[in-house]
Amino acid sequence: MQLSDMKIIVTGAAQGMGAHFARRLAEAGAQVAAGDVKEELLAELVEATKGSKGKLFAKKLDVSNEADVGAFVEWAHGAMGGLNGLVNNAGILRDGLLVKKDRTTGAITKMTKDQWDAVIGVNLTGAVMMVRETVAKMVATEQKPGVIVNMSSVARHGNRGQSNYSSAKAALAAQSVTWSREFAPFGIRVNAVAPGMVETPMTQGMNQKARDAIVASIPVGRIGVPEDLWLAVKFAIECDYFNGRVIDVDGGAGL
Ligand SMILES: NC(=O)c1ccc[n+]([C@@H]2O[C@H](COP(=O)([O-])OP(=O)(O)OC[C@H]3O[C@@H](n4cnc5c(N)ncnc54)[C@H](O)[C@@H]3O)[C@@H](O)[C@H]2O)c1
Repeated sequence: MQLSDMKIIVTGAAQGMGAHFARRLAEAGAQVAAGDVKEELLAELVEATKGSKGKLFAKKLDVSNEADVGAFVEWAHGAMGGLNGLVNNAGILRDGLLVKKDRTTGAITKMTKDQWDAVIGVNLTGAVMMVRETVAKMVATEQKPGVIVNMSSVARHGNRGQSNYSSAKAALAAQSVTWSREFAPFGIRVNAVAPGMVETPMTQGMNQKARDAIVASIPVGRIGVPEDLWLAVKFAIECDYFNGRVIDVDGGAGL
């Protein structure tokens, strides 16, 4: 599919990778419906993309709210005059060990159910609702071809301190295969992109020592930037023969 033909939703578009993908899509001539819980940053994105070849529309969206997702997809379809794509990017972290023992006091702490529910609610259930509503709209309006790109993570293989996040990202990678098969009759491809560590607000605030250790473990010798991931998202949109697969973009680090 040509980027300039896309009428595409980007979730989590207010900052980080989502904002970068939305800007790149608009620059390439796509119609973009940007959704996020952060309305002020969305307004800045609208300003920043004025004068692009394409057009960016923005609206508040909480992917963890089922009614919000349905309303957003309906709005996006109307604003763009159609819908043929989704970059399913919204995500959060609530890291913690499932069970932790304090070395000094011996006190046991646990990952709370709230930590679990928050991450599963946004990163998995929210992502599933976005796919369900987007595909239902495409099918109802006989819009094809279509393409969906899910943001998974190298953490899908399992990562210390990320029971909740790894579970959601592993499920999203698996669902990308499931959906590629379910939606093939509708002409809709589904893929996932799995970043290693990327410089975004999500990863800011990490102490220098931890950061240096991560960089040392990455064969290309640096943390990723959103443009590295854009190249993978662009490929997943453009290559009509790429379907039901996950692209790892992690500088060769793995986990
Ligand atoms: N940064 C990394 O190192 C990294 C690595 C692997 C995977 N990822 C994944 O890539 C995606 C983008 O990450 P990022 O680093 O740009 O993160 P980020 O925190 O910079 O941006 C995420 C965006 O999602 C939005 N969001 C959060 N909850 C939402 C909700 N309920 N509804 C709508 N929007 C919501 C946030 O407001 C934010 O704008 C996420 O799915 C993340 O899990 C990131």
